[in-house]
Amino acid sequence: MNIIVVKNYEELSEQGASIIAREVKTNPNAVLGLATGSTPLGTYRKLVCMHKEEGLDFSSITTFNLDEYYGLAPNHEQSYAYFMRRNLFNHVNIQLKNTYIPNGIAADILEECKRYDELIEEKGGIDLQLLGIGANGHIGFNEPSEELLIGTHLVDLAENTIKANSRFFHSVEEVPKQAVTMGIGSIMKAKKILLLACGENKAKIISKIIDGKCSTKVPASILQIHPQVTIVIDKEINDQL
Ligand code: F6R
Repeated sequence: MNIIVVKNYEELSEQGASIIAREVKTNPNAVLGLATGSTPLGTYRKLVCMHKEEGLDFSSITTFNLDEYYGLAPNHEQSYAYFMRRNLFNHVNIQLKNTYIPNGIAADILEECKRYDELIEEKGGIDLQLLGIGANGHIGFNEPSEELLIGTHLVDLAENTIKANSRFFHSVEEVPKQAVTMGIGSIMKAKKILLLACGENKAKIISKIIDGKCSTKVPASILQIHPQVTIVIDKEINDQL
């Protein structure tokens, strides 16, 4: 694991964007795995600036998002499809037809999961997967559990995830209780992984995922066995390691 320590969120976002931009420049047909949540927002803002100011070219890039809330249509303001358009896709020259996000309202959700995994394979797999991390250790929505699933699947969100994500909704009751998420296998098959974490509430979990033990109770701990992982953390986290 390559760990990069930065001063603050601004620098974290710069690092995140520069690692993604490097991938986009060296491989204009790259397949990027993308995340939502608060952590990558600054990274997406920087990528938008790089596109507008330096012509960073997304025209042949393909993207697969990690997850989507079950039951939210793509035009729902809290859906991850909407998030991606608002924060990245609408502001760069990516072709929307090359951006994939699980369909949270598919009539046959099992079929949708299978289709999503097949699509990732068809496009040659993910070159660079961007990840945030839940304070409980989830990546994508692979929650702490007795077992971790390999492929894309429907998952019951953990209570603490529902509570954490309620900040984006009017009330905790409105937060969907399930999501469609890429599995641990799809994430681990990515050629490179970039995990971004900041703020002291992520310190405990970051120390667990780099401590040399691997447990399904800390899903992100499996990243220790991936050959090309970069973790960018801020000073607040590093001070507590
Ligand atoms: C989002 C995702 C989640 C988030 C995690 C951290 O697509 O897959 O694993 O990365 O919940 O969220 P933030 O960044 O809001 O702390």
